[in-house]
Amino acid sequence: MTLKDNTNGRTKLLVLHGPNLNLLGMREPDIYGTLSLAEINGALKEKASEHDVELRIVQSNNEGALIDEIHASRDWAAGIIINAGAYTHTSYALRDAISAVGLPTVEVHLSNIYAREEFRHHSVLAAVCKGQISGFGQDSYLLGLQAVLGVIGVISDK
Ligand code: DQA
Repeated sequence: MTLKDNTNGRTKLLVLHGPNLNLLGMREPDIYGTLSLAEINGALKEKASEHDVELRIVQSNNEGALIDEIHASRDWAAGIIINAGAYTHTSYALRDAISAVGLPTVEVHLSNIYAREEFRHHSVLAAVCKGQISGFGQDSYLLGLQAVLGVIGVISDK
């Protein structure tokens, strides 16, 4: 079975990590924490499996690769969780890709982008996402997952 098959009936989500997030754990730990990307991915997978949800998790430092993943997810994913790194602030191409596929997307950031340098205060992705979670370290991803699961109806508070 390829990753694009959706034949086993399980809900699948795409988790995208953008540039420099492969360095988590050693990259400015005072800002981004000491957890590695593998540890964050492990926590996400554990949480997703509690809901019988599968994750495809991809990190890339290349804008085009991230866009290709978003395009492909149209065929198999129920939603997207994205930390686009610095592309958050600059990439109209990523924004257009999210908008084009129309999947419910939640933007996440480890750091509070509004408490940092001014260039980080604006996200060009935010307007095409369901919402944004910023400032809670690893929990931003877990909250992002929870948010997408709520949006697509896998979990409900009712
Ligand atoms: C980040 C915030 C961005 O401004 C920065 O470029 C990153 C990480 C975060 O998770 O806090 O690479 O998206």
